[in-house]
Amino acid sequence: MGLVDTHCHLQSERFDEDRAAVLRRALDALDWIVLIGDTLESSQAAVDLLQNGVYAAVGVHPYHPEQADGEGIKRLRALAGVTRVVAIGEIGLDYYRYNEAPRDLQQRAFRAQLELAAELNLPVVIHNRDSQDDLAAILDEHYVSLCGGIMHCFSGDAAFVERCLLWDFHVSFAGNVTFPKAQALRDAAKAVPMNRLLVETDSPYLAPQPVRGKRCEPAFVRYTAETLATVKGIEVDELTAQTTANARALFRI
Ligand code: NI
Repeated sequence: MGLVDTHCHLQSERFDEDRAAVLRRALDALDWIVLIGDTLESSQAAVDLLQNGVYAAVGVHPYHPEQADGEGIKRLRALAGVTRVVAIGEIGLDYYRYNEAPRDLQQRAFRAQLELAAELNLPVVIHNRDSQDDLAAILDEHYVSLCGGIMHCFSGDAAFVERCLLWDFHVSFAGNVTFPKAQALRDAAKAVPMNRLLVETDSPYLAPQPVRGKRCEPAFVRYTAETLATVKGIEVDELTAQTTANARALFRI
């Protein structure tokens, strides 16, 4: 069993020039990848790219909460019915950029999409930035009706890991866990049980060491896996087998 990338955005315009080549390198290096939507348009674009080894999640990011209105939810429901669409995401809250999107609108969009995931029996892919308390309060209400989820690009501490486990979530690490100054993040990774750990790139963002600063692509996920293996004190082959098995079970692939 090889590595997988559970979170990438190859629909991004940053891949417009060479998307086919990036996709080929991804599928040469990895068993499969999941394209993640962040708008209605990029969710549709992810579905348009579905093929052998390529899965998708559809959803509206907290920066575009106005898209998750009645009509938007209807479109997401239709996209989620396509074969190889395996999750609702990415959804969540983001208070990092003040005034980017009003918090009450973000929360409404988040709740509406959590309800959609529960209705469709699909796991959720969660985005959280500087919004942990409100996000946790909403998930406390909704988790019982969900069939699992992923705290993507994890940025919290060991206490928040515990909270995620309580919701029966998986915890996914991106390239930033490899950065020299990210010891706190590596300590959090240490607290994640092996059967809950996932690995991702969030391409085109957050390229890991030693390709930091470059446009990230799914094939780079191996650097993040190597760091996590070191953190866990195991061989990278074992880390690979376990994280891929985790992702397979969660997404029912
Ligand atoms: Ni993302």
